[in-house]
Amino acid sequence: MEEWWKTMPKIELHAHLNGSIRDSTLLELARELGDKGTIVFSDFEQVILKHDRSLVEVFKLFDLIHLITTDHKTVTKITKEVVEDFAAENVVYLELRTTPKRNDSKGMSKESYMQAVVEGLRAVNNVDVDFAHKLDAEAIENSHPANDRNSESRRKKICVRLLLSIDRRESTEAAMETVKLALQMKDLGVVGIDLSGNPVIGEWQTFLPALKFAKEQGLSVTLHSGEVPNSEEVHAMLDFLPGRIGHACYFEEDHWRKLKSFKIPVEICLTSNIRTETIPSLDVHHFADLYNSEHPVSLCTDDMGVFSTSLSHEYRLAASAYGLGMKEMHTLARDAINFIFAGNDAKEELKEIFASVSKELKA
Ligand code: IMP
Ligand code: ZN
Repeated sequence: MEEWWKTMPKIELHAHLNGSIRDSTLLELARELGDKGTIVFSDFEQVILKHDRSLVEVFKLFDLIHLITTDHKTVTKITKEVVEDFAAENVVYLELRTTPKRNDSKGMSKESYMQAVVEGLRAVNNVDVDFAHKLDAEAIENSHPANDRNSESRRKKICVRLLLSIDRRESTEAAMETVKLALQMKDLGVVGIDLSGNPVIGEWQTFLPALKFAKEQGLSVTLHSGEVPNSEEVHAMLDFLPGRIGHACYFEEDHWRKLKSFKIPVEICLTSNIRTETIPSLDVHHFADLYNSEHPVSLCTDDMGVFSTSLSHEYRLAASAYGLGMKEMHTLARDAINFIFAGNDAKEELKEIFASVSKELKA
């Protein structure tokens, strides 16, 4: 059974790059900084090895992560590893989100940070990465003789698209800079914008101009919504009609009504919600109601490194908590095709992948 959740094709729509970092890499990087005297390694070792972190501790860990991921090479390494880890558990489509970072003292601009991310996509070598539309896919096929269309031994492939995150700490101008960068990087697989960061910081009105601009320019938008009680903000976010929302933990009756009538898909992050105590237990999680009312939902990891999870684990967890079988879980995974932010080519390719597994399940 364990193996089944790993081998079934899956779609990941809510994964933060630096939250998905391997513990081993985090330890290695922290040790390097410790050796240089930049940090006291033993202080950070405890944070890295700690599990069951609260939301406050999670954001403390992100501060540490940001401290040790300030050079381009590290960003490239993390990106490469994260894509490899998702591919290893048969994620066939990954929307990876990250906050472009500016760090003048390190010579890092938002653009150079994103170039380092793209370098990471190019550096993956144990699986083919399709991230920049047709041209790159063709280049990849040509570069591997084993990928001859008639060949039996086609290499594993993962389709990756990028979302640029606006951090809730940012100003309107900084948010706008991120959206402009996303537009500039459309040909490198950037398909949308995310709003994330500490949910108790920042005002919706600050980000609205940049998010509106993104939408007008044809970028898709997903919003972290309802991570803390904030009824007015949730209403404003739903009225914005984002392509998807993440979490929806502190939603009230009228929010649910609106969400359902607008049919806005929800990215569900079970382990993340439990670890951060935004939902007390799986049996009261809103996944059950949304699933039973056939509202579009997709299971996601959020931060597989920080929360010590994987997408396979999230599927296994949902199947056992809500009594769902393999066929239902396969359908759930497949139906996420309908709300990925990539275009029709990617959708058609994914439909084929899922259809071949459907046949096996029926056999
Ligand atoms: P990055 O954008 O690749 O650096 O990924 C880490 C960042 O994602 C964090 O600093 C937060 O801004 C954001 N993030 C990760 N998990 C959460 C969450 O659960 N809620 C809100 N923001 C999050
Ligand atoms: Zn998130």
